[in-house]
Amino acid sequence: MAENKQQLNPRAERLQADIDALAGMIDGSRPGYTRRPFTPWYRESRAWLAGRMREAGLTTRIDAASNLIGFLPGADPSLKPIAIGSHTDTVNGGGRFDGIIGVLAGIEIARLLKETGTVLRHPLEIIDFTAEEPSEFGISTVGSRGMVGNLTPVMLELVDAATGTTLREAIAGQGGDPDRLAEEARKPGDVALYLELHIEQGPVLERTATRLGVVSGIVGIVRAKATIVGDPNHAGTTPMTLRYDALGAAFERLCRERYEADVVGTIGKISNEPNASNVVPGKVTFELEIRSLDPEVSGRVFRLFEEEAARVGQARGLRVQVDKLSESSAIRVAPDVLSVLADSCAEVGSWRELPSGAGHDANQMAVIAPIGMLFVPSLAGKSHCPEEWTDTDEVADGVRALAGALLRFDERAVLGERG
Ligand code: GLV
Ligand code: MN
Ligand code: MN
Repeated sequence: MAENKQQLNPRAERLQADIDALAGMIDGSRPGYTRRPFTPWYRESRAWLAGRMREAGLTTRIDAASNLIGFLPGADPSLKPIAIGSHTDTVNGGGRFDGIIGVLAGIEIARLLKETGTVLRHPLEIIDFTAEEPSEFGISTVGSRGMVGNLTPVMLELVDAATGTTLREAIAGQGGDPDRLAEEARKPGDVALYLELHIEQGPVLERTATRLGVVSGIVGIVRAKATIVGDPNHAGTTPMTLRYDALGAAFERLCRERYEADVVGTIGKISNEPNASNVVPGKVTFELEIRSLDPEVSGRVFRLFEEEAARVGQARGLRVQVDKLSESSAIRVAPDVLSVLADSCAEVGSWRELPSGAGHDANQMAVIAPIGMLFVPSLAGKSHCPEEWTDTDEVADGVRALAGALLRFDERAVLGERG
């Protein structure tokens, strides 16, 4: 089929119009460009995306995990699909590009295939994964976990404390079918290849004046929730030596720097009860995460944290509980995938290989398929904030490189054998 393929040239103004359209479907009561999963704004954007997918010639469906999937048949029905995906949920106060350009890239490529009459050998799936960012249920990559059979029954019963809804209910409310997750879960070999275009979310490409990044590996993430229970008491009359101060313990002992090279740890979410200036904190709950490309290192740091938490709890007479919420494996991208991505990038502009410190749906898809990821620059390395920015021509170059890689991969005889 190689002979009917030509270069696919994305239309920058069409991509920008799509980015702008999604940037308008946000929760106005929250800062920045906030579109949390399972909300009216998410439902609105999902309906809009499904419409764009159908215009591009894809059939659409919602799978058991509530992912939106656009499908285009290939010329060879014996081949497994190549999937292109990312996410359109944002963090609270997030930006207009993280995840979003990956889904829009897939839709633009489908449009270009249609407009140029290009027929792929492989079927093509464009996927908008549900809830990639840490959700109100404490876990991230909800949809891609579900797609590969990593959404456990325990995870489905996690509760959004603000609404009392379980994750199971939220997925069902968004058109998914949690009871069919196991049946629909994809197995190694079910997907020929997974590709994702994303903003870098860091400063390397911009600082080195490089147009494109070929992702060499992605960090794994351990997330946990720690609860420290002390004893609430009067802040004026309780002597320092007689306090069971849950918040003091968290900050004095547990936030200490004890991380080694190539690993980062963050406590980014915290709640303190009763949270009054004149009461000794009685209960502190916080969520922490540890990220590394080396699973041995993140495992060791997490064990250190657990030991330290137990030691501090005992020394201070506090009850400390640490519950692991989730763990995603770090991945390394296969050399043959890297070399095809590099060839495609070289046709578009300058490129370099770099690892990803951010997690992606690709971490989950790697359980069942070879994966490849491309980055485009992030202005000032900023992400997860309203200032997140990538120029339209940079997004278009990323789409062009992704499309070129898709055509190259599509011509290969065997894909997915490593799944
Ligand atoms: C996703 O953006 C993550 O890295 O947390
Ligand atoms: Mn993302
Ligand atoms: Mn993100």
